Order: sequence, then C-alpha cells, then structure tokens
Amino acid sequence: MIICMCKALNERQLRETIESGATCFDTLQMETGVSTCCGACTDSVHALLAGHAGGAGLAATELRRVGA
Ligand code: FES
Repeated sequence: MIICMCKALNERQLRETIESGATCFDTLQMETGVSTCCGACTDSVHALLAGHAGGAGLAATELRRVGA
C-alpha cells in the first residue's frame, strides 16, 4: 500500500527503513523523504512508527491511504 504519494513510498519500504534503525519521525523523513511535500501522509507515518514501537504491526485499516 502506498503511504506517501508525493515520494512514491509504500508501506514495505517504510517498514524496512524503520527496521534498519530509522525509528523516529525525523530520521525516517531524512532517510526516505517521506512527508516532505504535502504532508498528507504524516499521520500514517506516525502510525507506522507507533506500531513498530509497540512491537505489533498495524492493520491496513489503521493506515490512511493517501490519494485513494
Ligand atoms: S503524501 Fe507524503 S508528502 Fe505528500
């Protein structure tokens, strides 16, 4: 599922970057460019990060699809 339309980033790409150590919003943003344009994906990015921190994956319904 695409999370950031502006940067063409999907959930898998963002999860992999989080798992490789980008566990805070600023780092994830710096490494991927997510949420650097319109910002519509910001809530979904925070949800991904919160899910990672909680040790549980988020259901697809918890992630807001951008532009869909
Ligand atoms: S959808 Fe991510 S910055 Fe626009």
